[in-house]
Amino acid sequence: MKNITVIGTGYVGLVSGAGISDFGHAVSCVDIDESKIASLKNGDIPIYEQGLESLVKRNVVAKRLSFSSDVPNAIEAADVVFIAVGTPQDENGNADISAVLKVAETIGLSLNGYKVICTKSTVPIGTGRKVIEAIKENSDASVSFDYVSNPEFLREGAAVRDFTHPDRVVIGAESQKAFDFMKDVYHPLYVNETPVIHTNIETAEMIKYASNAFLALKISYINEIANVCEEVGADVFKVAQAMGLDGRISPKFLHPGPGYGGSCFPKDTKALASQAEAAGVPLKTIQGAIDANSHQHSRMVDKLRILLDGSFEGKTIAVLGLSFKPGTDDVRESPSISMITALLNESASVQAYDPVSNENMTKFFSNISYKNSVYDAVKDADAAVIMTDWNEFRSMDIPRIKSLMKTPIFLDTRNILNTSELEDTGIVYDNVGRKRRTDS
Ligand SMILES: NC(=O)c1ccc[n+]([C@@H]2O[C@H](COP(=O)([O-])OP(=O)(O)OC[C@H]3O[C@@H](n4cnc5c(N)ncnc54)[C@H](O)[C@@H]3O)[C@@H](O)[C@H]2O)c1
Repeated sequence: MKNITVIGTGYVGLVSGAGISDFGHAVSCVDIDESKIASLKNGDIPIYEQGLESLVKRNVVAKRLSFSSDVPNAIEAADVVFIAVGTPQDENGNADISAVLKVAETIGLSLNGYKVICTKSTVPIGTGRKVIEAIKENSDASVSFDYVSNPEFLREGAAVRDFTHPDRVVIGAESQKAFDFMKDVYHPLYVNETPVIHTNIETAEMIKYASNAFLALKISYINEIANVCEEVGADVFKVAQAMGLDGRISPKFLHPGPGYGGSCFPKDTKALASQAEAAGVPLKTIQGAIDANSHQHSRMVDKLRILLDGSFEGKTIAVLGLSFKPGTDDVRESPSISMITALLNESASVQAYDPVSNENMTKFFSNISYKNSVYDAVKDADAAVIMTDWNEFRSMDIPRIKSLMKTPIFLDTRNILNTSELEDTGIVYDNVGRKRRTDS
C-alpha cells in the first residue's frame, strides 16, 4: 500500500485518484479550487461520469480516499505524487504547461523525502525534463526524487471503466526504483496482465500525443469519406461497416459525425502539430485532420441552412445534445458550440436540450433557452438538429415530434435516426454520408 497524492481533481485527477484508491492505496485528491474540494468533501461529484459516484463513495467510506486543498501538506505525506492539472491550449495552439510547472515548484518546496513524481497530464514532449528542473530548483539537493511520465488514456463517458480496465499502461521511468513504485501503484492491473509499456520519459509523452492524434485523424478521415459518399450516392454506414470488419482497420472511431470536439483531441492535435513544426518535421496528416475537422463543423451549419432554404433569420432551432459526446456533461470544444454560435450570429433563436449538460452550457451561452426534454425543445421549432448521440435520442417518438414542430425538419449529425421512419413520417431530413430527403 502506498500513500498517493493526486494534484488536480478534474476529470483525470478525480477518476484516477478514486481508481487508485480502489486498487487499495491511500489517496489524497487535492486542488486549488476550494469550492470543488468543499463539494467533494460534502459527497457531491462535480462531473457526470457513470460509476464515479459509487467508486468515490465506496473508497471514502473505506477511508482510502480523501480530499484537501492543502497541496503542500498532501505532497509531504505522499510516496507518489501525480500531477493531473489542466494543460489547455494557449493562443498559439501550443499546450499551456504553466499549471504543471507551478505544481512542480510546489512539489520542490514540499519535498521532505524520496518520492516518485508522476505526470498524468498530457504535456508536450520535453516537459518532463522541465518539471525535473523546476523541482530541483525549489528543493533541497539532499532530498532525492524520481520522475515518471504516466499519460492517461481514459475516455470521458467511459472514464471509470477505462481507468480500471485500460488497454495498456505506459510508464516512462528512467530509474528501476521509480518503475517498481509504479508497478506497485498499478498492482491489480499487473495481476490482470494488462500490457505495461516501459519507456523513457520522452517516448511516454509522445505515445499520448501520437495516440490521440491518430484517433482524431481516423475521425476526420471517415468524415471526409462520408462527405464524398453524399455526392456519389454511396452509404457511409455500409462503407464504415465493411471497412471495420478488416482487422487492420477495426470498427472503432469510424462513425461519421459533426467533427470531433472535447477537451483533448482539438488541443492535442494542435499541440502535436505545433511541436512537429518547431522540430522541423511538419505533420501534414495531422494538419489535414485539424483542417478537415474545422470544415466538418461548418459543413453541419451549411447542411442545416440548406434544409431551411438558405437562412436562419427569425427561425427557432431545437439543438438536441450539447456535450461533445454521450455519457459526459463536458461541453468543452463541443461541436454544438460552433453550431449554436452560427445560429445566433445569423439571428436564429435556440431551444436546447441535453440530458446532463444544460447547466454547463450556460457558461458559454446565456442567451438561449434551455429545455427539460426533447419534446419541450422541439415545440414550435422550425428545425431540429441532433448534435450528441445520447441513447434517449435514438428512441424519440418521431410522430409526436412532428406534431410538436412548426416545420418537420431534422438534421441528424450523428446518424442515429432511422431514415425509413423519418421518410414514413414525412420529415425532411439530412444526416452525414447517407441518403437525405430535402423536399417536403
Ligand atoms: N479529460 C480527459 O478525458 C483527459 C483524458 C486524458 C488526459 N487528459 C489530460 O489530463 C489533464 C487534466 O485534464 P482534465 O480534463 O482532468 O482537466 P480539468 O480542467 O477537468 O481539471 C484540472 C484541475 O486541475 C486543477 N488545478 C489547476 N492548477 C492547479 C494547481 N496549481 N494545484 C492544484 N490543482 C490545480 C483545477 O482547479 C482543475 O480542477 C490535461 O492535461 C488533459 O489533457 C484529459
